[in-house]
Amino acid sequence: KGAGIVVVGSANVDHVVEIDHRPADGETILGSDLVFTPGGKGANQAVAAGRLGGDVAFVGAVGADGAGELLRTSLLDAGVDIRELAESEAPTGVAIIMLTPDGENSIIVAPGANRHVTPEAVVRGSEVLAAARVVVVQLEIPMETVLAAARLGRHGRFLLNAAPPRELPQELLGACDPLVVNESEAAYLLGNRSTLDGAELASALLGLGARSVVVTMGAEGAYVAERSAVPVHVPALPVLAVDTTGAGDSFVGALAVRLTEGASLPEAAAFAARVAAVAVGRRGAQESYPTLDEVLEPVER
Ligand code: RIB
Ligand code: NA
Repeated sequence: KGAGIVVVGSANVDHVVEIDHRPADGETILGSDLVFTPGGKGANQAVAAGRLGGDVAFVGAVGADGAGELLRTSLLDAGVDIRELAESEAPTGVAIIMLTPDGENSIIVAPGANRHVTPEAVVRGSEVLAAARVVVVQLEIPMETVLAAARLGRHGRFLLNAAPPRELPQELLGACDPLVVNESEAAYLLGNRSTLDGAELASALLGLGARSVVVTMGAEGAYVAERSAVPVHVPALPVLAVDTTGAGDSFVGALAVRLTEGASLPEAAAFAARVAAVAVGRRGAQESYPTLDEVLEPVER
């Protein structure tokens, strides 16, 4: 039996340190003590979807180390099928995350085992992929693997979260339904035309060949663009940002859950915005993702 959602992607252990400002060139600063938490855009999206009750399988790789165990546990606790999670000789991916008091972050990823999420790994999981209603991929794994996932998952919907941004082959762009990006990723894909607003960014990405587009804009919500329709604005919920790390990933996971249930893209984006609002109000990435009950409760009590 296949899962409704298959996430192909990265898994990292996040090394988080809180700082009061970003260090300048040549500057040394003292931060908080280090915290280790499960992360990685792919694993985050799978956990987000699983916690919301989605039927989800994860295709990825971790090392034979403690970090790999941490990720396995987090995925399993969220109900994610990890039969296609390989153990690589390389160490589990690491993300170095600097967190500032406004809840914003800067992230460096050392890919490790994520480099070994090869097209062959996707082919091994091809039965699950072919049966998936939604295949979800990001760009912390090799581009050939992303392309292989798009080809094998073509019977369902292909959701690409183009993060971190890279140039996208035309074949890949044409498979995206939707392409999900934040403002800066959108601008990158459009050659840094920073003068465009959210609706214009979304329309311009459709123009590049994507079948549908979601541009997430943090506190300003999101724009959804579909062919032959005017872009739709989805408002964000007012929240106090504690830690935005992985909030975009919770949005993607939630979007996939609603899409497998047959929701329209704007409906799915509105639900995803509520999920992301809960996630930014709590610390960590995977640890901050809500269950369905928590999303349906009023956010402010
Ligand atoms: O999107 C947030 C994630 O990016 C973090 O969990 C980190 O691991 C990096 O992959
Ligand atoms: Na969070």
